[in-house]
Amino acid sequence: MGGTETMQLAFLTIFVICLHNACFWECSCQASDFNLDGDYLIGGLFPVHYAEHSGQQRRPVAIKCDEKSFFLTGYHLLQVMRFAVEEINNLTSLLPNVSLGYQLFDHCSSTYNFPSSLQFFSSHNDSIKVREDYNRYLPKVIGFTGPLSSSESVSLAPLFMMDLIPMISYGASSSIFSDKKLYPSFLRTVPSNKDQIELIIQIIKHFGWNWVAFIGTTSTYSQDGFQLFYDLVENVGICLAYYGILTETSQLNTIFETIDMLHIKVIILFVEELKAAEVIHLAIQHKFQNKVWIAGEAWSMYQPLTKQQGIETIGTIIGVTPHVAKLPGFSNFIHQSRMGGNCKSCHSGAGLSDEAVCNQDCEACSSQSAEDIINEGNAYSFSVYSAVYVMAMALHNALQCNHSGCDTSRTVYPYMLLREMKRLPMFSLNQLNVYFDENGDPPAHYSVVFWNTADHTVKIQPIGTYDNQQVLNLSIDDMQIHWHGDGLVPFSNCSAECKPGHVRQQEGQHQCCFTCVECPINQYTNHTADLYSCLKCDQYDWSEAGSTSCQKRSVEFLHFSDVIPILILLSASSLMLLCLGVAVLFAIHYSTPVVRSAGGSMCFLMLGCLAASSISIFFYFGEPSALSCLLRSTPLTFFYTVCLSCLLVRSVSIICIFKMASHLPKAYALWVKYSGHWLLVAGVSFFQLILCVIAITVSPPMPINDMQSFKDQVVLRCIEKALIPVGFGLGLMCSVSGVCFLLSYMGKDLPKNYNEAKAITFCLLVSFLSWAAYLEAYMLSRSKYVQLIKAIVELSCLYGIMFSYFIPKSFIIVFQPQKNTQEYFQASIQSYTQTISRM
Ligand SMILES: *[C@@H]1O[C@H](CO)[C@@H](O)[C@H](O)[C@H]1NC(C)=O
Ligand SMILES: *[C@@H]1O[C@H](CO)[C@@H](O)[C@H](O)[C@H]1NC(C)=O
Ligand SMILES: *[C@@H]1O[C@H](CO)[C@@H](O)[C@H](O)[C@H]1NC(C)=O
Ligand SMILES: *[C@@H]1O[C@H](CO)[C@@H](O)[C@H](O)[C@H]1NC(C)=O
Ligand SMILES: *[C@@H]1O[C@H](CO)[C@@H](O)[C@H](O)[C@H]1NC(C)=O
Ligand SMILES: *[C@@H]1O[C@H](CO)[C@@H](O)[C@H](O)[C@H]1NC(C)=O
Ligand SMILES: *[C@@H]1O[C@H](CO)[C@@H](O)[C@H](O)[C@H]1NC(C)=O
Repeated sequence: MGGTETMQLAFLTIFVICLHNACFWECSCQASDFNLDGDYLIGGLFPVHYAEHSGQQRRPVAIKCDEKSFFLTGYHLLQVMRFAVEEINNLTSLLPNVSLGYQLFDHCSSTYNFPSSLQFFSSHNDSIKVREDYNRYLPKVIGFTGPLSSSESVSLAPLFMMDLIPMISYGASSSIFSDKKLYPSFLRTVPSNKDQIELIIQIIKHFGWNWVAFIGTTSTYSQDGFQLFYDLVENVGICLAYYGILTETSQLNTIFETIDMLHIKVIILFVEELKAAEVIHLAIQHKFQNKVWIAGEAWSMYQPLTKQQGIETIGTIIGVTPHVAKLPGFSNFIHQSRMGGNCKSCHSGAGLSDEAVCNQDCEACSSQSAEDIINEGNAYSFSVYSAVYVMAMALHNALQCNHSGCDTSRTVYPYMLLREMKRLPMFSLNQLNVYFDENGDPPAHYSVVFWNTADHTVKIQPIGTYDNQQVLNLSIDDMQIHWHGDGLVPFSNCSAECKPGHVRQQEGQHQCCFTCVECPINQYTNHTADLYSCLKCDQYDWSEAGSTSCQKRSVEFLHFSDVIPILILLSASSLMLLCLGVAVLFAIHYSTPVVRSAGGSMCFLMLGCLAASSISIFFYFGEPSALSCLLRSTPLTFFYTVCLSCLLVRSVSIICIFKMASHLPKAYALWVKYSGHWLLVAGVSFFQLILCVIAITVSPPMPINDMQSFKDQVVLRCIEKALIPVGFGLGLMCSVSGVCFLLSYMGKDLPKNYNEAKAITFCLLVSFLSWAAYLEAYMLSRSKYVQLIKAIVELSCLYGIMFSYFIPKSFIIVFQPQKNTQEYFQASIQSYTQTISRM
């Protein structure tokens, strides 16, 4: 405890010095506003005067507040305390037969006012003893309330914390006092800055601003508020664009210019009332106009500022203040005490010199009218009132009072009273709940006020409430606010919100400042989920650039049920029937010259291949699967090649009969001997079969969902994976038909009834043309209709063979049997031979 004793000795020294400087304690004016005798005394510190802080001091000096400028707000609060004590004394239930007194001091400076506070600390005969037992010490007062500001409280509080003397502040809102390790006996009836700053942030959010300036001073209150704001604002999407700190040397002008330059429309002015008045005054002078000012509780209800000339030009003022509760009976009390003329009677009656009452003196007080004092209604009035009640109720409990009386034989030590205060259950005072949380802070009940400047006077009117008990509940009646300018909520964002379909791209260090970029195709925005990046659409969805949602892609493939597919299927089926019919017809007339010249048994192979090829057509429809993709291409490639090879053989045979037989008899003999035509067909077919098998085993054709070709469609198609074998297969098919075309072209002048050559030429031409058409369509588009075209092309190739090769022969068999005779053939060969020999 050595350190503590040294500290107390130091205070004693201060005490002695200040005694020599200005103050004489021996006398006091009992009838003045500042003192009231009673069984138990409560201390009070009020800024009845206001002294400018004047830099550093070198030695402890005391100050005479009376010489400083008068501060009506402080005097009003002092009167509230007197009123509360009188009311309690009048109540028979709270402290029956126990009278409460007070000792009040004018506390006009945070650094020069120790002597008065030491009064509270001293024992009843105005001395302070060095003590051994800290618990058993009875100071003059059981506790005290005040001072108003956080700075003053910070410098005073340590003196009282040591002995656990209850200190209930009515105005110190700095959050440091919530730290009970540092301030164990500090309680307050004004909500902590933390609640206040949270409310201010809620208001900013409510009006949708995110680009704000904060103006503060170097005082404890303001610094604390700024630190809280800075910490809390980070996570809520509000950007502190500018922090202006007012010192003795700072130029408000440049602060205003910077704020204008940054296009900030909302300014939080978190300073003490007198400083606020100064700032607002200068703002009016400098024509710093059309802003939204958010007033901290310190000046949101500061009446003198409402009388400032030109205040309506600076914009809109919105303030926060602890709930303003009416004090019924207060105005009566003031009127009564004014009539009694307490202040005057003290000075004149007791005949004491001014010096006799140190900081318990007030010349200016007596000249204030009752109305002025009452109208100085202040945010802290209720805080003072409830602080006094808290002390009385704690005393009630400490003395174990009941209706009949209190146990006045008990000694009430400060720590006992503190314990009772902390234990107090929630009670209701003028309809407001009063209690302390574990940090000695009251519940946060706030009013939001609006400075209504309509009709050239300022009326401070409540427009909303806030409390954070169970839930954060801010309710503001926006209709009551008349915004400056065009009457709309002013815009104070760094960047305007991005349009739907656009996302933010942050610029610089502030997250509120960004440019907006449009989302590309197949991406969309969801501003509730992500403001900064475009979201990708699902695989089967699509969107235009700059969309806020995705749409389903339509799934495209050829349906069995459409008209054209049905027609194609019917044609394919008819082709198969035709093949069957022609086969039957040829079988019946197998031995006739027409069938023999058409190739005899080879005709059946060709008809079978045609029928088998047309099977492929059926697999173009319906949703593609691995099997249908396979069957769509492979049978056609194979059987069509076989069919073409048969045509090739026919062309070769015709050439052979009429040209080779005469010019190369040996080769013709070999061709006939080894059934050259069958060998050729078998060879080509085998080769094509190998290629098909390779293609299938390497990688069979697969269905794919084509997302690329159309932005809003999924086209279900088949693709060939094994390009090389498939390519060779097609190449084989093309070369067979090419050779076939050449040969048949060579034989186009042969006799009429052997004239398959013309037919073959024609049907190959048809197929070349249709494939060319298909290729062109394939180059241009990937829609499902290209597949339809392919089916049609394939079908027309098959029909080409059927109609140019088989149908004319069938026609002769059925309708011109006279041409289907040996004689007729002989005749035509003879006429051909004659023609040749004539040439
Ligand atoms: C207290 O009681 C006295 C006497 O009845 C009365 O004049 C005074 O107005 C009362 N004060 C309050 C604050 O109620
Ligand atoms: C009030 O206190 C006085 C002495 O202080 C005593 O004479 C009186 O009986 C007490 N009255 C009640 C109701 O306790
Ligand atoms: C004040 O009272 C204490 C006892 O309570 C006593 O010891 C001390 O001497 C007194 N001081 C003065 C200056 O009277
Ligand atoms: C300003 O920003 C806030 C949030 O940062 C937003 O809620 C509000 O809508 C914006 N205001 C305008 C007018 O874009
Ligand atoms: C009232 O308090 C006194 C003193 O504390 C005590 O003696 C008395 O019994 C109490 N009466 C009631 C009704 O509690
Ligand atoms: C919020 O406060 C308003 C006004 O005081 C009240 O009507 C409302 O019920 C409160 N809401 C909640 C959730 O407490
Ligand atoms: C946007 O995202 C939120 C949260 O992820 C979700 O609840 C909401 O449904 C989304 N809105 C749209 C249109 O997708």
